[in-house]
Formats: sequence, C-alpha cells, structure tokens
Amino acid sequence: METELMNNKRSVMLSEVLQGLSQNPKTLPCKYFYDEKGSEIYKQIIELEEYYLVRTEQEIMKNNIQEIIRTLSDDCFIIEFGCGSSSRICLLLDHMSPAAYIPIDISKNALMQFVKSLKDKYPKLKIVPVCTDYTQEFNIPNLNIDYSKKIIYYPGSNIGNFKKLETFKILKIIHNLCRPNGGLLIGIDLKKDKATLEKAYNDTKGITAQFNLNILNHINNELGSNFNIDNFRHKAIYNEKKGQIEMHLFSKIDHEVKIGNQTILFEKNESILTEISCKYDINEFKELVKDFFEVQNVWTDKDNKFGVLFLKAK
Ligand code: AVJ
Repeated sequence: METELMNNKRSVMLSEVLQGLSQNPKTLPCKYFYDEKGSEIYKQIIELEEYYLVRTEQEIMKNNIQEIIRTLSDDCFIIEFGCGSSSRICLLLDHMSPAAYIPIDISKNALMQFVKSLKDKYPKLKIVPVCTDYTQEFNIPNLNIDYSKKIIYYPGSNIGNFKKLETFKILKIIHNLCRPNGGLLIGIDLKKDKATLEKAYNDTKGITAQFNLNILNHINNELGSNFNIDNFRHKAIYNEKKGQIEMHLFSKIDHEVKIGNQTILFEKNESILTEISCKYDINEFKELVKDFFEVQNVWTDKDNKFGVLFLKAK
C-alpha cells in the first residue's frame, strides 16, 4: 500500500516535471521546492535580513491582534490553508478559543508533527488535520460542533505563487467553504520598488539560491534524473509589468539531462522558471476578489510592505 502510494506520487511528479520542461520557456512546479531539505532552507530564508515578508506579517498581526480577533469572533471555526509545520496560528490561538481548528497541508509528515506540538500546547482545542492539496476541491469532515462562522486563514502571501486562473480557482474553493457568513483572513505581499523586491529573493548569503537549486536535487532523488546543480545559476527578477517576482535557474552551458526515458536539452543561458510570487496593490486585490468577497479590513505595517486583510464572503 505504502509503496503503491509512493509510486503514484512519483509518477505524478514525473509527468508534471516532464510537462513543465517541455514548455517554452521551461518551468517546474514550485511545490517541489519543499522536500525535507527545502523546508529546512525555507526556515533559513524567513530569518534573512532581506526577506521581510514573514517578519512583517507577524508584526502586523501582533500590532492589531485585538481588532483581528474581534473580527473573527470567538466561536468561529478556523481552517488554515498550507500550515506546513509553522506555528503562525499560535498568535491567534493565544488570544482566542475557536470552536475548532482544521490545519490543511499537502505534506503528511509536516502536518502530523505540527498537530502533535499543538496538542501539547492547547489541550482543550479541537484539532482536525486534513492532509490534502487545497488547490483541488475537498471536503471538511463533519465535526458535530456549534460554531458561528467558518474562517479561512491563508497567511504568508502563499496565494502569490499561483497564476491568475489558479488564484480564482482557490478563491472559489475558499468561498465555497466559508459562505454564507464566514470569511478569509489573508496575508499578501504589496507592490514596492524593484530593488527591495529583488534583494528579498537574491539574498547576499545565497540561501535563496540554495533553495531554488534544491528543486533539482529533489527531482534527482525522486526520479533518478541526473541534473547537475553546478550547471545552473539562480536569479530572481521582478517583472514590473506583471507585478511578480520570477525565480529562474539559468543554464550555464549547453547540456542535456536525462529524466525517465527522456533527454532534455538546455542551451547556455536558457532558464527554468521555478516560481512566481505575485505582489499586489490593495485596490487591485479588491478587484481580483470582488466576485467572491468584500474587503472588510486592511491592516498594514508603517512602510506598507505587507497587507493582512479580512475578506467577508459574498
Ligand atoms: C512561501 C510563497 C511566501 O513567494 O516569497 C521565498 C516562497 N520563494 N523565497 C515567497 C519563497 C523564494 C515564498 N512563499
């Protein structure tokens, strides 16, 4: 059973990887950053001086926590999208007692480890983890509890990793989960000057470069391919027109890589687009969500780097 599951996961990865690399320009799905090593490197990224996102979001949450918990109300039921093994939810749980907490993540290991630590910290809290890919429709188990409304918590500007159509699909999934009277508490990274954005994704210690290159090692480990990370160089570029950071791996030389039964050719200076990270302006975001949500609250930091928004389901 276990090996069958693994084989299925591997075959999905193989087809997604080959599909991405057969496109022009070449791409890879950014979810494959997060193997064990990648999750470790990501933890280092959020500590970097240049990477302001997570730190700024936490500061905004702390500075406005009373107003935020009043907006959510105590007897709500919180569903967190993509909790990983991060304890961001603790700030909320330290200030309120929701009727239940449903952490959702695609990685079973991260999710289980996280739930265990939460159970020790909040013994009275009803925690029901759901291991799933939240970009596809899914069901929440029936909990038989009383609650006033469902709140989706979606921090970290993780929504920025998706293209417009996928973003609509996720907003629709969230809307279906929380309507009629619930809402979405979401973190979004705001538009700012190109230099600040590019520094955040091209740190001087080269941690983000390691993070980006690790996707190739992850693919090698799972699929037995022969990427040589020394043949690639990391660079993140802010595309001002699209309002998005684009993470690239540029091939240093003409070369080929074997994956499954295929050979993929790389030309010198050709890139693989491994991730987009969209940046928003508050009014643009209001427009983006308007079919599903009404923006009720906006909290930001003093430099308007990041936004935490509460959206009420329409
Ligand atoms: C986890 C999606 C918020 O887009 O900033 C960090 C991931 N990529 N450095 C982001 C990431 C490169 C990050 N998110």
